[in-house]
This record gives sequence, structure tokens and C-alpha cells, in this order.
Amino acid sequence: MKAVILAGGSGTRLKPLTYWTNKHLLPVGRYPMICYGIARLREAGVRDIVLVTGRGSLGDFVEVLGSGRDWGVSIVYRVQEEAGGIAQALELARPMLHAGEKFAVLLGDNLFSESVAPYFQDFQRQPDGAMVLLYPVDDPRRYGVPEMDQAGGRILHIEEKPEHPASSYCVTGLYMYHADVFDIIDGIKPSQRGELEITDVNNAYAHAGKLTFRELSGWWNDAGTFESLEEASGKLKGVLP
Ligand code: G1P
Repeated sequence: MKAVILAGGSGTRLKPLTYWTNKHLLPVGRYPMICYGIARLREAGVRDIVLVTGRGSLGDFVEVLGSGRDWGVSIVYRVQEEAGGIAQALELARPMLHAGEKFAVLLGDNLFSESVAPYFQDFQRQPDGAMVLLYPVDDPRRYGVPEMDQAGGRILHIEEKPEHPASSYCVTGLYMYHADVFDIIDGIKPSQRGELEITDVNNAYAHAGKLTFRELSGWWNDAGTFESLEEASGKLKGVLP
């Protein structure tokens, strides 16, 4: 399976650290943050990666990752000229993915303590639709939050950063799609904050009854704040899979 890593954004919550480099290149333990995601994807069998980042950060990523050779993967870069949301960044990977192909999308600040290979294997057996990974969190208001059916077996809807969360789960930033996701992106409209939201994409699947999920069994966080960055360094201690 191929993967798309989204590593743009301005890292506002991590200023002043992000004045000099991209959030995803900040140190977590002994390695730049992005390396953990790459190592996890490689462990799960990914060899081809499309990395999307902003114009000002591309040089730094090439400096750290090069062609991907040292990490056992092949990396193709795409430049997001201006911030337009996660779904807009994903759309930039479209030419690298064939019709009918399955692939994973990773938000580069999402860190996992467990192998994601079992989830990828499950998705390989899924005939169509998409899969997301859920994790219980203390403050769901910071995330995309799923509303489940009564039996807890199906995601009915996802709300982005809800004031009144329908559950205490977060939809983490590792998504599995078929290439039909690009047709869905074509059909969504910018949100109130002017971005193409990944949650709207996932809702298109959820409303069609085609969004499956798994609950993560290990530790997870998205290292977008000082607190979570520190927690990640302590948790992962510079050990790559
Ligand atoms: C994004 C997604 C959100 C998801 C989160 C996970 O939020 O929009 O649904 O729960 O990533 O990291 P952001 O971190 O861009 O605010």
C-alpha cells in the first residue's frame, strides 16, 4: 500500500519553535517528528510515500529525508502553495495514485506506539469505502469526534472540534482510502474557516455507511502543542520501530 503524508501548516501553537522550521521536523526524542511516521508506515509495508508540504519547508524536508533511501522508502514531494485544508493537501497527491488503488493518509504530527500493520491488513480486505482509527481522549473538543450508533458498531457522523462532543473518542490522523476519495474531495465545499475539511470527506463515507473504524490499542497523540510534544518525547524516547 502507498501512503500520503501531510506535513504542511504553520505550527502556530508551537511558536517560536516553528519560526525556524516546520512543526513536523521538530525533535521528538532523538529524531525529527516525521521520522516516526515514516518508520511506522514502512513497518506496515509501505515503500512509496507522497509527502505534501509548504513551499518554505520543502528544502528542510529534503535535507532530512532526501529520496527516502536511508529510511527504506521512496519519497515523492508535492508543494502546497497555500493553506487550504487537509483535503486540499491530499488532492495534490492525486496524480501519484491510480484509480482503484488503496492507500493510507497520515497527518505527519500523529504518533503511534503500536504497529499499524494489522489495521492496514484489515483495510486490504475491505471491498470499498474508508477506514479511520479512534482513540479515547480527555478533551475531545480539540479533535474530530465520532457519533456512534447505539450498538457502538458504526460511525454515523463526525463533528470537527465540537463544543458538545457526542463521544469521548478522537478520529486520529491516519486514514485509509480508495482512490475514489478524490471524487469525494471534488464534491465538498470549503468550511466556514475556508478549508476543505477531511472530516467532510469522512462524513461522505459515514453517511453512505462505508466508513469502518478500529480503536487503537496503544498510545497515540498529535504533537501539535508543547505539552503533547513533551509527552511524545517521553513516550517514544527516540525509539523507532
Ligand atoms: C486534524 C483533523 C481532526 C483530527 C486531528 C488528529 O485536526 O481535522 O479531525 O482529529 O487532526 O490529529 P488538526 O490537528 O489539524 O486541528
